[in-house]
Amino acid sequence: MTTFIHNAWYAVCWSHELVDKPQAKRVLGEDIAVYRTKSGLAAAVEDCCPHRFAPMSLGHVDGESIVCGYHGMEFDRAGCCKSIPGQKNVPSRVKIKTYPVVEKHNLIWAWTGAPERADQALIPEVHWLDAPGWTPVTGTTRYECNWILLVDNLLDLTHTTFVHQSTIGTEDVASTPITTEFGNDRVYVVRDMKNTVPSNFYKRVGGFDGMIDRWQRIWLEPPSVVVIDAGGVPAGGSRKEEASDGYTGIDTRVVSMLLPVDEGTVDQIWAFVRDTQPDDRELDSDIKKSLTVTFGEDADFLAGQQANMERFPNKQMLNNTADAGVVQTRRLIERWIESDTATAEAAE
Ligand code: FES
Ligand SMILES: [Fe+2]
Repeated sequence: MTTFIHNAWYAVCWSHELVDKPQAKRVLGEDIAVYRTKSGLAAAVEDCCPHRFAPMSLGHVDGESIVCGYHGMEFDRAGCCKSIPGQKNVPSRVKIKTYPVVEKHNLIWAWTGAPERADQALIPEVHWLDAPGWTPVTGTTRYECNWILLVDNLLDLTHTTFVHQSTIGTEDVASTPITTEFGNDRVYVVRDMKNTVPSNFYKRVGGFDGMIDRWQRIWLEPPSVVVIDAGGVPAGGSRKEEASDGYTGIDTRVVSMLLPVDEGTVDQIWAFVRDTQPDDRELDSDIKKSLTVTFGEDADFLAGQQANMERFPNKQMLNNTADAGVVQTRRLIERWIESDTATAEAAE
């Protein structure tokens, strides 16, 4: 059974990564070539030339067109063939499949569903990535697992106590129960920790040297963006919106755009944004190092889970109390998949 939601926008790479050289991407099992035209527009075509099926990602960009590297057929951004070397007539029926593409919040988003349904209003809400007052550090991590396992992982931070002791983990995360809230087709997983020891990561980012009060509020933004709203203040202190003066806390978002590559592979295109020390490039570099280690620590667990799921396809997972948000979010995802499948079938 598929876990893909086709009628949706997926971030395929960061804006700065998209250059005029076409790049191969696999999105929901479909191979596409993404590129930037001379005038700077983002574009995507099927990574298969209609002529002899050479990958378009081996071609090049010429002005506003992409040119196949094998025999030189040229296609514009709408997929229409503009020229065929050695041939005067270019039949108007010669086309390559294109994908709607939008550049927003420093990301390149591709739509994998019916092109006529590609509504930009459906691009996930991730304004922190380029909003004033927030400083981002970004990266991409690949996991050999189904994308929903990574959603579970990011929603349930209990594992940080055990997996990420050297960076973001502390004892209090696993021992503090979560609560869940609902609203707007989302499940919010909330954990508040008072008078707790800061993690090594929080000590570095927030400069804390004593106990802190910290919070986590996590949700899945449809179809596959996990937002972790997290932060901390010195124990007993006020959060930014309530502090009259002397705010010394940190407010952060870990925004993970999950790109389901295929059923057993997912890319996490992530950003850590903070509200403090906007000009500290050394801090940027420490954050990047620390989070690269952190996400790398998850990779073996997730790949192992995937392997076990394939080995025991009929076994059911056990749900503990801390999994409440994961279970409820999985129900939401199931509904989104069903409705997406129904939409696709109705269109056939
Ligand atoms: S395979 Fe692309 S032009 Fe021949
Ligand atoms: Fe993790």
